[in-house]
Amino acid sequence: MNQALWYKDAVFYQVYPRAFQDSNGDGHGDLRGLTRRLDYLRDLGVDCVWLMPIYVSPLKDDGYDIADFYNIAETFGTLEDFKALIEAAHQRDIRIIMDLVLNHTSDQHPWFRASRAERDSPYRDYYVWSDTDQKYKDARIIFVDTEPSNWTWDETAGQYYWHRFYASQPDLNYDNPRVQEEMLQVAGFWLELGIDGFRADAVPYLFEREGTSCENLPETHAYLRKLRAFIEDHYPGRILLCEANQWPEDVRPYFGDGDEFHMGFHFPIMPRIYMAIKKGRAQDMVEILRRTPPIPENCQWCIFLRNHDELTLEMVTEQERQWMWENYAPEPRMRLNLGIRRRLAPLLDNDERKIRLAYSLLFTLPGSPILYYGDEIGMGDNIWLDDRNGVRTPMQWEAGAGAGFSEAPIHSLYAPVIDSDLYSPARVNVKSQRADPHSMWNVIRRMIAIRKQHRVFGWGKFEWIDVRNDAVAAFQRTHENETVLAIHNLSGAGQKISSVKKPVSSLTDLLTQKQFVPTNGNLEIELMPYQYLWLK
Ligand code: NOJ
Repeated sequence: MNQALWYKDAVFYQVYPRAFQDSNGDGHGDLRGLTRRLDYLRDLGVDCVWLMPIYVSPLKDDGYDIADFYNIAETFGTLEDFKALIEAAHQRDIRIIMDLVLNHTSDQHPWFRASRAERDSPYRDYYVWSDTDQKYKDARIIFVDTEPSNWTWDETAGQYYWHRFYASQPDLNYDNPRVQEEMLQVAGFWLELGIDGFRADAVPYLFEREGTSCENLPETHAYLRKLRAFIEDHYPGRILLCEANQWPEDVRPYFGDGDEFHMGFHFPIMPRIYMAIKKGRAQDMVEILRRTPPIPENCQWCIFLRNHDELTLEMVTEQERQWMWENYAPEPRMRLNLGIRRRLAPLLDNDERKIRLAYSLLFTLPGSPILYYGDEIGMGDNIWLDDRNGVRTPMQWEAGAGAGFSEAPIHSLYAPVIDSDLYSPARVNVKSQRADPHSMWNVIRRMIAIRKQHRVFGWGKFEWIDVRNDAVAAFQRTHENETVLAIHNLSGAGQKISSVKKPVSSLTDLLTQKQFVPTNGNLEIELMPYQYLWLK
């Protein structure tokens, strides 16, 4: 289990625990349910699960509002269940990382209660208070649909408090060394229980400084390096995955000299994959990857197609955002904040060719891929649910009212199962896809299995290849003595490509074993609509 750079080759899978599997029939997913489904994840080829928040929480932001860092919300189970989950996962060679929410707590956290209640409480200074709401004007608002300001007046405290997210999530004050210390302790607690690392939530916002955007500040990086050093000293091999929704050049510093984060999400490539598939043109992906600085050898990007939030359009231009909304979120209900609250399959018109193509990009572009639960079977969404809940509906394990997710009566499920014609459990479920060798689930499983046989995908150098056709994304991955040329026809029309570089010999598609033989030193290939090849 312990090769140090395991995350460079790993396939990740994001679990929203409320949705995954209910074990006690109360209509809410829980840790025991997830434990029961570990074999499923192993069969799919998952190496590491990102477990979303399970801490005690009033759930105003689905667990990202934490009221007790040292305990598990009753609905998910107990610390004993947590330990059992980790143990069962490790037995299957699956690691688990969990959310570490550093930036804020719930307003129900005892620290905040004490902080607001008394000016001379030792906890007053755990949060950011002010007599005026005019400070830090250059910090943007993130939840633009609901929050008019990053300051909220607190009647009890007689001051404003600072929050980058919902008003029910006051920001911690990292200028206070005790806060810094507290959060290291929180990390230590879960590492001690065996967690393999953290997806660190919302890290750009830890410190505030006048006259700045209050994002990515040097003080923030200094603290994060402290956190890394703490982990390195006491729990080597465990990882930190950075959630910084920023441009590549601004994420780069989060890797430090290989002494800050092990991994960072590559946010900007994600919407550009959707642009590429809609426009039938590689250009937007090409540009953003050209703009992505190299990262230290011991670091890794984490790339994704969707997650539990709205498909964020923060890392695009205003014009590109409008284009994405027009093309991918034509109805107002599909839009949320600066993003789109839809799932992968509906976004790609439930067209399996496009969905497979998107996965092929996910598995061959530089970085470790992460899948969002349910997207491996092409689950649908429900835009009529509020906030981001429409992409957090029960996992569809099999046909039937509770979708194999829960035995509770339908009205007591935490959220309705998707019931549209195209995406209901009768049409979309794990059981039938596992039984069908040609299903999307099996296609993805095979892609994962093949990816794992070739270190080039996790480790390889990346280079765009000119194939004299803009509709085709072609790139080469090279590691030690292996080279793979990944070719993606982004368009709905057949395409021809020919090689500019002289191919040395015939190439074999790793996915189908089909051979491609160059004639007169030139490789010519005809691609079907949305076809992809992994040529070795
Ligand atoms: C990012 C998380 O992905 C999102 O779900 C959450 O609302 C915010 N951080 C605040 O914690």
